[in-house]
Amino acid sequence: MKKLAFHTMILAFCCGVMTSAQAQDPKTAAAQAPAAQPAQETVCFESRKGASEVTKRDIKPGWPNVKCSPKTGAALWYGDPYDGTVPMGKMPGLENIPAGHALVKPRSGTLALMPMCGVSCHNGVGPQFSPPTLPKGRKPVPLPTMEAMVPDLKDLQHGRGRIWCMDCHHTTQRNKLVDHFGDPISFDQPQLLCGKCHGDKLRDWRDGIHGKRIGEFTSTGKKRWFTCTECHNPHNVQDGARNRGFVQLQPEPSPQLPRGMKDASHEKLHPIPH
Ligand code: HEC
Ligand code: HEC
Ligand code: HEC
Repeated sequence: MKKLAFHTMILAFCCGVMTSAQAQDPKTAAAQAPAAQPAQETVCFESRKGASEVTKRDIKPGWPNVKCSPKTGAALWYGDPYDGTVPMGKMPGLENIPAGHALVKPRSGTLALMPMCGVSCHNGVGPQFSPPTLPKGRKPVPLPTMEAMVPDLKDLQHGRGRIWCMDCHHTTQRNKLVDHFGDPISFDQPQLLCGKCHGDKLRDWRDGIHGKRIGEFTSTGKKRWFTCTECHNPHNVQDGARNRGFVQLQPEPSPQLPRGMKDASHEKLHPIPH
């Protein structure tokens, strides 16, 4: 945790420096941009630190893909809300949205172990692997190798001991999640996995009450939808005293008041007495 905080400080610092450099002299910055390599990359996070990161770059000279909070390192503004997205794929209940209007950022590219899971390790090959690489059942067993790679698995905080790896991960296709029929689900469509147990949250997400979307305002407009795992870490959703897995962030300061307005006390007065 300390290491993370330290990194964040560095990032926040870089972010501040880069923003002010651009603000002071955008022309010089733009002219130098193609030739000069940035001294250090600015990486900020979208919704889950360490799991939904964006590297700052210019979409076109002087127009960044993202602006990040110097305080928390979180993404606050997007130069292009659809940057890096792909179509969401088939999603029951969203048939009315025109093709290409529901977009998501794929998770696969952010998962370091995922490309190897089904290829190098759980490939079902031979007795040379011990313990067996494909489990016989779905019940919990000790998994020291997995715990060493993904520390959150040591004391899985999801379902109070009543759900386990194979309720979410596909038995024989380890680069896939699994639905109630045992059929594979892409890591890029986690809503289909989470929704098999959290139907109420899936409905809220579909209706725009839960989660987050950016892009066009109209209900069937082109939008990027944030998927469940961009915010929730599936292995620790019930962590901590709040049974949530989320630590609470310090809120950002309130936005600047319009010119000429001294304070916002008028907002406290109800215009219609009742
Ligand atoms: C509630 C569903 C759920 C359970 C239970 C679960 N996982 Fe996962 N797991 C996921 C999802 C979803 C992802 C992808 C997360 C993302 O996109 O950030 C994932 C990712 C992973 C990864 C890839 C991590 C990486 O960075 O590449 C590994 C390895 C993994 N899980 C192992 C396990 C093991 C072992 C267990 C059992 C001890 C387990 N999981 C239990 C849903 C689950
Ligand atoms: C196999 C069923 C199953 C799947 C799949 C599943 N969950 Fe859960 N989830 C549960 C259960 C059971 C609980 C525990 C509820 C309790 O005992 O409080 C839970 C708890 C949670 C909580 C804790 C907070 C709360 O009050 O409910 C969150 C958040 C959550 N799940 C999100 C997710 C997300 C995101 C996914 C997809 C990555 C997911 N779940 C997939 C069964 C599931
Ligand atoms: C933009 C981020 C974001 C996305 C996307 C998102 N969630 Fe959440 N979710 C949250 C936050 C924040 C909370 C509240 C946590 C808290 O109280 O600390 C929450 C709470 C929950 C809870 C706890 C329920 C409760 O009543 O308190 C569940 C279950 C859950 N989400 C499931 C999902 C599922 C399933 C999806 C995808 C269909 C999803 N979430 C998508 C941010 C998100």
